[in-house]
Amino acid sequence: MSKPAVYWQREIPIASEVLIKAARAQIPLVLSRSAPTGLTIDLAEELNITVAGFARGQRFSIYTHPERVLFSGESGTVRDDQQLVEEIRRLKENKKVYIIAHYYQRSEIQDIADFVGDSYAMAVAAKNSPYNIILVAGVDFMAESAAILCPGKTVLSPEPKATCPMANSIDVSDVLKFKKEHPEGMVVSYVNTPADIKAVSDICVTSSNAVKIINKLPREARIFFIPDTNLGKFVAGNLDRKLDLFPSSCPAHAHITKADILQRKAEYPDAEFLVHPECDPEVVSLADFVGSTAGIIDYATKSNKNTFIIGTECGVFHKIHQLSPDKKLVLAQEDLVCHNMKSITLKKILHSLETMETKITVPEALRDKAALALEKMIDYAS
Ligand code: 13P
Ligand code: SF4
Repeated sequence: MSKPAVYWQREIPIASEVLIKAARAQIPLVLSRSAPTGLTIDLAEELNITVAGFARGQRFSIYTHPERVLFSGESGTVRDDQQLVEEIRRLKENKKVYIIAHYYQRSEIQDIADFVGDSYAMAVAAKNSPYNIILVAGVDFMAESAAILCPGKTVLSPEPKATCPMANSIDVSDVLKFKKEHPEGMVVSYVNTPADIKAVSDICVTSSNAVKIINKLPREARIFFIPDTNLGKFVAGNLDRKLDLFPSSCPAHAHITKADILQRKAEYPDAEFLVHPECDPEVVSLADFVGSTAGIIDYATKSNKNTFIIGTECGVFHKIHQLSPDKKLVLAQEDLVCHNMKSITLKKILHSLETMETKITVPEALRDKAALALEKMIDYAS
């Protein structure tokens, strides 16, 4: 069955949930008789959905992504992403480019990728890339990790401005201060960090392996866990071990509150709550399962339950629905969108393949040191 090209909504203003559903179903245009709110326009912009409002007979107003609508007199024709997809597939085959995407990428990007995974699996996939050119559809530290792990290969980012505010919140001087005060201490850095931080770290971790890896480190060692304080608290609680933490967190996850979850649980009493450890410990304590994006997807698809409250970015819905189309998924909170992840579009990927831009490089002296921390992670995690 072919996908609908337009979602038609009658009188009520377009709600964020409608846009998220449309994005999930890969419906590129939402048409409504009423006008969208400012919030709806912002979200539609991020989700790459064309919003048309004030639809009356042959007339309507376009609020976002007008490039998808071709005008002929007064009637509109919807142009879908199919041409972009075909061109991307042709170019990536001709130029032998391996596309690696994160689960928070838009559905249409996950669909054209050669590999989709969590941040740990992306790093391993880059290392094992069958081609010499790798395009990373994810935020900057993900492309940088690929460049660190794959010397000699070309790593492309379709949007180098897509970044992780939490990764950028820590400075090398914060790490050096700890090292000076605790020369015997160890620095464990979340993979969500830039190369210069990895270069002064003893080992990297991701949310899928942080507990396992830190459990292998000497019990007596003083550990500075950077930069995500919520992930650090989750690890410390699991291992019953004190960690020195850095005061930073993910803007997309950390704003979910206990009240949001209690409300969702009241609305969906039979649902299980699955959460990413980047959320506040109060929220995490209410979960039936805590794990990385891959862990959440795996749990939801294998569970015999039908309804899940999802405490991570809405992008994971796509994979869960591909694997288990009948599962009902409810976002823990309406605004669970990583705007940096969503700033990557099919158009930018096509441009990147056409121009071979932007190449991500890490100065050799820094790359050598950062590679030690990343390679050690892969070694300890396996
Ligand atoms: P995962 O390692 O679970 O994919 O998480 C990456 C991330 O940035 C979560 O916000
Ligand atoms: Fe960074 Fe949060 Fe976006 Fe993950 S979801 S990339 S931690 S801002």
